[in-house]
Amino acid sequence: MRTPLIAGNWKMNGSLAANATLLASILGDAAAVSAELAVCVPAPYLGQVQSVLGGSPVRWGAQDVSAHERGAFTGEISAQMLLDFGCSYVIVGHSERRSYHGESDELVAQKAQRVLANGLTPIVCVGETLEQREQGATDAVVSRQLAPVLDTMGTQLASMVIAYEPVWAIGTGKTATPEMAQQVHARIRAMLAERDAESAQQVRVLYGGSMKPDNAKDLLAMPDIDGGLIGGASLNASDFLAIAQAA
Ligand code: PGA
Repeated sequence: MRTPLIAGNWKMNGSLAANATLLASILGDAAAVSAELAVCVPAPYLGQVQSVLGGSPVRWGAQDVSAHERGAFTGEISAQMLLDFGCSYVIVGHSERRSYHGESDELVAQKAQRVLANGLTPIVCVGETLEQREQGATDAVVSRQLAPVLDTMGTQLASMVIAYEPVWAIGTGKTATPEMAQQVHARIRAMLAERDAESAQQVRVLYGGSMKPDNAKDLLAMPDIDGGLIGGASLNASDFLAIAQAA
């Protein structure tokens, strides 16, 4: 019912030459994958990605966006600009943005709203730190992060994607067990259902945090895990595709 989405988050990696090689390899095998594939790339490469992936089944997106529509916001990139470059997705509220750039839950909600208002799909990231998990605060943290986003969604709830990314699992090689992840994913879907039961069944909830070819199958077999947001492994075409094939 929910088509799995495997989205790469390249973070601040890549070059014109390296991207060309990576994209060609992804395109070469994309037809063999039934999951939806997307790559979220650094903004300067959106033009390159648009020209290489345009017309293919692989979609693309950005890793952040301004909360503002336009104007005097030096250095910022608007959702309208991302749309100009054919983006489908925009990651908002990644934990690296929250922790290194001080993004609040409210700002993340504003960004998600801006993305939706421009006809793009936000991939809203939530997740707890190790300390929060050890304090038993995972549900409370995820609920707090998601609440302002859901408050602004209204009838557009079904148009969003959520990524549960436990901070302690990102780039560390430590993955949540499928059971641990499923528990949080189910909690997230229950939160969505409190707002709109029908939309809650349509929203894809991705897992992110050291998802690799060897753990993807078990994670993706969980009933509420609808795909992955893949960091490190998305920079290697064969790993990225192997994860997609597990979906
Ligand atoms: P990782 O990153 O797969 O390298 O852990 C995931 C992410 O940060 O989105």
